[in-house]
Amino acid sequence: MKKKSGMSSFNYNSIPSLLKMMIAKPHSNKCEHDFSSEKYTSDESTLKEVAEKKNMFIGTIASHNFKESNFCKVTPKYFNSVTIENALKWGHMSPNNKVGEYDFSIADEIINYGKDHNCRMRGHVLVWGRVPGKSYPLEVDEIIKNSNNPQETLKEILKEHINTVLNHFKGRVDTWDVVNEPFEVFGHKLAPYSFYEILGKDYIKYAFKCAREADPNIKLYLNEQFFYYRDKRAKAFIELLKEMVYEGVPIDGVGLQHHVMFNEQSIEDLKWFIGEIKKLGLKFEITELDIREKIFKRAKNPALAQAESYYKIVKTSVESGICKGITFWGIDDGYSWYDHIPPFNLKSYQPNNPLIFDDKLNKKPAYYGVLNGMK
Ligand code: XIL
Repeated sequence: MKKKSGMSSFNYNSIPSLLKMMIAKPHSNKCEHDFSSEKYTSDESTLKEVAEKKNMFIGTIASHNFKESNFCKVTPKYFNSVTIENALKWGHMSPNNKVGEYDFSIADEIINYGKDHNCRMRGHVLVWGRVPGKSYPLEVDEIIKNSNNPQETLKEILKEHINTVLNHFKGRVDTWDVVNEPFEVFGHKLAPYSFYEILGKDYIKYAFKCAREADPNIKLYLNEQFFYYRDKRAKAFIELLKEMVYEGVPIDGVGLQHHVMFNEQSIEDLKWFIGEIKKLGLKFEITELDIREKIFKRAKNPALAQAESYYKIVKTSVESGICKGITFWGIDDGYSWYDHIPPFNLKSYQPNNPLIFDDKLNKKPAYYGVLNGMK
């Protein structure tokens, strides 16, 4: 039985039929590693130990009901980094969707737990335009609509928000997704959020400048999901990064969400993309890793194919030398965001089972895929 999340649904509704069809592409069953063999399952070192030897963060996420979830059971043993799934999103912290009113209580509670267990806290997210009312308070749009000078008004609101949040969490959250998902999901243009409509791409640069001013000691990341790492969209993202770096916008790294929803991303393309990040002197993290089991439905053993996929992405990241951390978007297969968003909540798209522990917290082959990819 899947646990109910009670979370808001996420707006990936408009998935074009082309992408829906991709799920039907046959998957090659070639598996380089036998993740079920003794060699791997008898390995007693944990993910955390292996990651620490590599000087890397290995992370999981905490939901609002983290105390009742398996979060507290796995975090101290396996992870040294925690991201909060929703509670740091601007709209989630704003009671009544009002600007300037904050309720930090859930985030504070999770952060205290994380710090007590020696975890680095990753802040997700300061500025995200995708889901008005969730990713930012609805009142932002009302205020802008009634302003004589929408540009200045929006800048004031963004600055005030970034200052308030970064001051509140100073010394406790050391890496932040300053801007999340600036691009259209399936286009190659910046997404037409109201922030973009008012300030153009300057909203992104401005947010980074405000964040650096508010706290010079935190790491600042631009976070995005890619289905392809060398298409027009990925190249447009690299162009944006170049522009930011050449203009001296304070940015430390790129967050690659790396949700594997329909098809595995090409590792060759990923290497190219990472190379471009490296040339710019930036770092990256895999920030929201999950790999749906359903995409391997044609493999002889989908769980092993999934393990192989985890292995490849982790190995590529570690070998790049500029990957600071890898975070999974969930703890175990008992609860994943996919189970609550269309189309993945539909029977025909399941099983999602996208994580490295099963719903009883047994280590899946995927766990060993990650472990061996890290070594
Ligand atoms: C998702 C959460 O997991 C869900 O609980 C919520 O309903 C919607 O948001 N990219 C992101 C994350 O940057 O914030 C999203 O998280 C998943 C996609």
